[in-house]
Amino acid sequence: MTTEAVSGSATAVAHPSLAMIKYWGKQDTTENIPATPSLAVTLDGLDTTTHVVLYPSEASGSPSDIVKIDGVSQPIQRYKGFFDAFRRLASENGIDLTRWWFMAESSSNFPSAAGLASSASGFAALVLACAGASGLGDVPDTRDLSAVARVGSASAARSLWGGFTQLNAGAKSAAPVKDASWWPNLRIIVAEVEKGPKSISSRMAMESTRLHSPYYKAWLEDSSILFRQAMAGLESRDLSILGPAIRKSYMRMFATMFASDPPIVYWKPGSLSLINACEKIRGDGIQAWETMDAGPQVKVFCLDENTEAISRRLQMALPGVNLRICTVGGAPVLRNG
Ligand code: PMV
Repeated sequence: MTTEAVSGSATAVAHPSLAMIKYWGKQDTTENIPATPSLAVTLDGLDTTTHVVLYPSEASGSPSDIVKIDGVSQPIQRYKGFFDAFRRLASENGIDLTRWWFMAESSSNFPSAAGLASSASGFAALVLACAGASGLGDVPDTRDLSAVARVGSASAARSLWGGFTQLNAGAKSAAPVKDASWWPNLRIIVAEVEKGPKSISSRMAMESTRLHSPYYKAWLEDSSILFRQAMAGLESRDLSILGPAIRKSYMRMFATMFASDPPIVYWKPGSLSLINACEKIRGDGIQAWETMDAGPQVKVFCLDENTEAISRRLQMALPGVNLRICTVGGAPVLRNG
């Protein structure tokens, strides 16, 4: 038994989910089911804020849901699967949204679509704000919201929790592993190498790798081994165990892309300068383990006491690079209205 929705609005704030062990490749492309297990940390200090208004479709004058990022309307086709999945979830929870549209406006305090996981924080904030605006509030289980966010972007499934989260290969929703207080002196230095949007979307790049990289099969086989190593490092809060797994994961992910035909290269000269700097820092006995995503930015895992020294050396390696020091972030929050 479902009841008709009523007008409402809500605002949600979510943080990006930075993968230490990477998801790259899908078992199912429409449903965004990951082919590799990923283990991620939620980043404090990087925020996406999304405001959603629900309004009756006849009164709207609009032919569809609307999503704006930094005031710019987005192609709604990109969001169709997400909104379909959300309407199904609402209906399962007794609310009929078939005659209602969502109008979402989103902005982040960091660049979008530049390899800083804005799609993770974006879809996590969107699903939570949609739930608030539809009057679902706390009713659906976080795992259900995670499953809807996944349809938008699989990494977003992880951003529904703070702390450390995992998304298994073949999974529909992510799961919390450790909360934000688990590793108080862990820091992540986010180095913004370039601001512009990425050259190719992660969605297209993943598919191209799956279809055209001879290393893809090896990547799939290897990813669960790295996942287990990283879990052991996280469990023991030991960067000398976690760090090497983090490094292997991103290096092997990019190896599949470099070997794809045509090759996919997100790296820029500045990215390589920072990778080399991290190697030298480690050579001096300081734990500094870098990772990268679908873009040129470099993120470095380290301990609080070494943050200043590492930041100085990254600045020397790439003068003028913008650095943000992040701690482990909390869960997204919802504000009604
Ligand atoms: O969820 P997407 O489509 O933004 O892809 C994320 C891919 C990586 O950031 C490279 C890895 C990950 O697990 O977040």
